[in-house]
Amino acid sequence: MSDKKTGGLAGVIAGESAICTVGQGSGLNYRGYSIEDLAAHATFEEVAYLLQYGELPNLATLNTYKKKLIAARSLPEKLKTILENIPKTAHPMDVMRTGCSALGTLEPEDDFTTEQDRVIVRLLGIFPSILLYWHHFHNAGVRIDTHSEQDTIAGYFLEKLHNTSPREDQIRCMHVSLILYAEHEFNASTFAARICASTLSDTYSTITTGISVLRGPLHGGANEAAMKLIDSFANEEEATKGVYEMLEKKQLLMGFGHRVYGLGGDPRSPIIKSWSKKLGGDTATFRISETIEAIMKKEKPQLPTNADFFSASAYRFLNIPTDYFTPVFIMSRTTGWAAHVKEQRANNKLIRPSSEYNGPDNREYIALDKR
Ligand code: COA
Repeated sequence: MSDKKTGGLAGVIAGESAICTVGQGSGLNYRGYSIEDLAAHATFEEVAYLLQYGELPNLATLNTYKKKLIAARSLPEKLKTILENIPKTAHPMDVMRTGCSALGTLEPEDDFTTEQDRVIVRLLGIFPSILLYWHHFHNAGVRIDTHSEQDTIAGYFLEKLHNTSPREDQIRCMHVSLILYAEHEFNASTFAARICASTLSDTYSTITTGISVLRGPLHGGANEAAMKLIDSFANEEEATKGVYEMLEKKQLLMGFGHRVYGLGGDPRSPIIKSWSKKLGGDTATFRISETIEAIMKKEKPQLPTNADFFSASAYRFLNIPTDYFTPVFIMSRTTGWAAHVKEQRANNKLIRPSSEYNGPDNREYIALDKR
């Protein structure tokens, strides 16, 4: 395990799962449905239901599920107070992590075998409210109310963020993005959530674990980092010069490369790119993005764009602040985490691998005053 090839557990099969295929079989599928079909035809709520319960809902089931998600938007007074007391300067991922954990103290889950689905729906419904209550309180001194005519997470999030009704194409782009980010097999945050579940911990703890692991720029934070990269260039010429300099210095370009997908690339990338183009194809941001993509294609064909690269510009065109890209990822990936947590619990065995020891041989203890 110590050679570079197997570092980071690359290529190691760490368990079985019936939820998602990544880079094997016929591309990326959630419970057998292709990501292309889901992104073209489904709403995020249908996909969330699919991941949570294993089957696509019919209309009546979907409507009941959506009603539960809408009811789950409300913020307990004590949670509002907590959000008001988190500093404006806090990282939004820390707000989400704290919000999730705090809700677990206010509405605890006594027994996950009977309560996990209630808690999953509660978290899916409340996450946009947590972020946007904190956002508006600290930026405008406004305590938002969570009532909305929008009946989807996509529409609710955009409306509450901007205090105005989003356009249909904006809502659809948001659905697509949430669908694309919903699930991705044994990625770092999902695997961490499964480890947490394997100890028989509660659902809030598993999702808090997922959030903590998603926070890093090699994982969920990559779309924010990609946006910062794109924003650092004023035009295509600057981008060309800058990217070549970065490659020369062997710096990482965020939004490129993937542990599992090979040269064929990340199937989510063309889907979100088409939405980015639809919403902002005539902007400098899109042109700079395409310039960076073209250079990477030429110089590093083994590192195609992943889902994060064009998600960055798509979110920019939805006027989502860059710092909120990864919190939006949480609103989506909670469905995948939850599916894996349920799957782990249904056939549980504590996840506890071993390491190959490469430290010092036995040493004689030296008394404190002799060191
Ligand atoms: N930009 C520039 N070089 C990259 C790169 C990138 N985005 N991704 C990988 N490389 C280089 C590495 O520096 C390494 O070079 P070396 O062999 O000279 O040391 C080589 O490609 C292999 O990379 P490695 O980090 O070992 O591959 P991995 O499977 O561990 O990495 C990622 C997968 C996703 C962590 C990696 O591609 C990365 O850091 N990408 C940027 C972050 C990102 O977009 N994350 C979101 C993933 S969905």
